[in-house]
Amino acid sequence: MSATSQVNNTPYLYQQVINLISDMRTNGTLQAGQKLPSLRQLSASLSVSIPTVKQAYFELENQGLINAKAKSGYFLNQESSQLSQPKKARSPLKAITVSRQQLIEDVFNAIHNSSHNVALGVANPVAALPATKALNRTMRRVMAVSGDKALHYGPMNGYEPLRRQLAFGYMDYGMSLSPDDIVITNGAQEALNIALQCVAKAGDIIAVESPCYFGILELIENLGMLALEIPICAEDGLTLKDVQKAIVKHPVKACVFSSTIANPLGCVLQDEVKKDIVELLEQHDIALIEDDVYGDLYFGPKRGTPAQKYSQRGLVLTCSSFSKTAAPGYRIGWIASNKFGAKCAKIKRALSCSSSLINQMTLFEYVRSGEYERHVKQLRQVLLTNKARMINKLHSYFGDDVRISDPQGSCVLWLELPEGSDSSRIFHLALNQNISINPGTLFSPSNRYQHCIRLSYGLPWSDKIESSLKTLAQICQQAKISA
Ligand SMILES: Cc1ncc(COP(=O)(O)O)c(C=O)c1O
Repeated sequence: MSATSQVNNTPYLYQQVINLISDMRTNGTLQAGQKLPSLRQLSASLSVSIPTVKQAYFELENQGLINAKAKSGYFLNQESSQLSQPKKARSPLKAITVSRQQLIEDVFNAIHNSSHNVALGVANPVAALPATKALNRTMRRVMAVSGDKALHYGPMNGYEPLRRQLAFGYMDYGMSLSPDDIVITNGAQEALNIALQCVAKAGDIIAVESPCYFGILELIENLGMLALEIPICAEDGLTLKDVQKAIVKHPVKACVFSSTIANPLGCVLQDEVKKDIVELLEQHDIALIEDDVYGDLYFGPKRGTPAQKYSQRGLVLTCSSFSKTAAPGYRIGWIASNKFGAKCAKIKRALSCSSSLINQMTLFEYVRSGEYERHVKQLRQVLLTNKARMINKLHSYFGDDVRISDPQGSCVLWLELPEGSDSSRIFHLALNQNISINPGTLFSPSNRYQHCIRLSYGLPWSDKIESSLKTLAQICQQAKISA
């Protein structure tokens, strides 16, 4: 296929040039260190103007993918995945009670009580490309058609057309779910809460990834369960061997895994590994609660398959929401399970009666119209660009002092600072400069990751973000010196 025919599918010409170079880099046609065609050459071969190629090269340079050498031209940089990634932690000796609530509260209060923060500590990818206008328009349409009814209590397990639509969506993976297998919840957080209550009780051992999303730890703490950390690696996530080791040594009742895209590491679990893990867990009667909130924010060629697809015995419960792709404030999520649908619905009723009907109706229309799909597609592109920019800036401000994850989706980076760094102290110093971050210990029940921090690139990119990253690097450097 000629270069010209490959650049035709995106709205902006310079973006088409970027996509072409990125594709050629991914498929190995272009290699690290290789010289790129000159502006004039590429403009002639793609039949686009020189300023268009210049803008694309400028953007690629900003993202750290290429660099300009004086009087020599443009050269392809090394892939960020070939740079140092965070190291895998050691396996734990035992399952433990969790006590992260106070720390989570302190961090939340600090982050959300200030309106001046550069919010690198909040994982809200939609902030990078808000869907506000389209959602407002859709909600007005819903109100015009449904009037008062949209403001009534809705069905306990959720608005039927939305449940049907979600069940239909799983058909893409060859999964057969009925609308009654779906329970609409107040965000994925309530879905995880219900799923945990459905398959486990106080005192049971719940295996989690390490590092893992702190909201899961808070639920385990609240429900009086114990957490067993299974360390995952930044490149590939969980391994079958580590899961096997954990369940042989410990009487695990259930697992909560971000089976598609992990938070905070952003790694993608390959479908074959997922399948093997589901088979293993079901052989041992262990339920898997999959947290799939980031599943649609993938950067690779295709979305990962939900783990539930590989379930033979119905022991997999899928939890997700519209929070990371449309509007976290709508608080609409769901659980999909063809074995536990009725039990989940009962727990949901006891917990919160039902979820906002008007928000469910609006999201149903938003998805049905095709606007949601288009928005998520653009959001992925914006996040991918932000990720490259942030990694590039971090490498230039932090130098070799830091290992940085190379997420294959989602909106967060995991930074491993030199051993001895105190991320709690860095958190407070950064807040004094109006920058919020997440200290690493939030992500482990056993106080691991003291020297790590999580940063979000789910923000509209600006000079302020770049200068905040520079300030953060200085803070980390100072904290190291005075430690
Ligand atoms: C991995 C993960 N799971 C679940 C949630 C909770 O999502 P929601 O806002 O839909 O309750 C979050 C939110 O940050 C998350 O990062």
